[in-house]
Amino acid sequence: MDSIKIKDKCFSISIKSEEIQKEVTRVAEEINRDFEGKNPLFLSVLNGAFMFTSDLMKQITIPCEISFVKLASYQGVLSSGHIKEVFGLTEDITDRVIVIVEDIVDTGLTMQRLLESLGTRSPREIHIASLLLKPDKLQVSLDVKYVAMRIPNDFIVGYGLDYDGFGRNYPHIYTIVND
Ligand code: IMP
Repeated sequence: MDSIKIKDKCFSISIKSEEIQKEVTRVAEEINRDFEGKNPLFLSVLNGAFMFTSDLMKQITIPCEISFVKLASYQGVLSSGHIKEVFGLTEDITDRVIVIVEDIVDTGLTMQRLLESLGTRSPREIHIASLLLKPDKLQVSLDVKYVAMRIPNDFIVGYGLDYDGFGRNYPHIYTIVND
């Protein structure tokens, strides 16, 4: 499908599945190289990162653990700016090497909030692996060490990302048309 409609919005395909897989493989290889012997704990941020996490983790070959957190801050096509609490983290992360697995860093406020929250629990290191980064939207200083793809400011859906809850299921990424 080259274009899709979700509610009142039209989207056209912008990053095909094959291209996404290629970049996810590259990130997996970088992580395998950098975290050898560090027994990292991957923290996947639900819901958006579920598909990226699944494809990424299938290619992680070093000993590691995976857990999931939830931290919703987005409604519709504009960031609400209302950052909710982190929940779902039951592991003791004291002295652990953490790799956050996120779908997209947009303004960066969500990630900043998550880093603050995790930082109070005495981890040894925290690193960020994001499927997507919108560099021109970033409002805070963040070191996003692993980025699969950098994209323009347009709103996107697919491969885990949603518009009002819909569109997460597509294997490709679609960009909004005529917003
Ligand atoms: P931030 O706090 O502005 O960086 O927003 C991060 C969160 O907003 C992401 O984890 C996504 O859930 C959501 N988000 C940001 N941009 C988009 C987009 O283009 N499409 C769908 N969700 C987005």
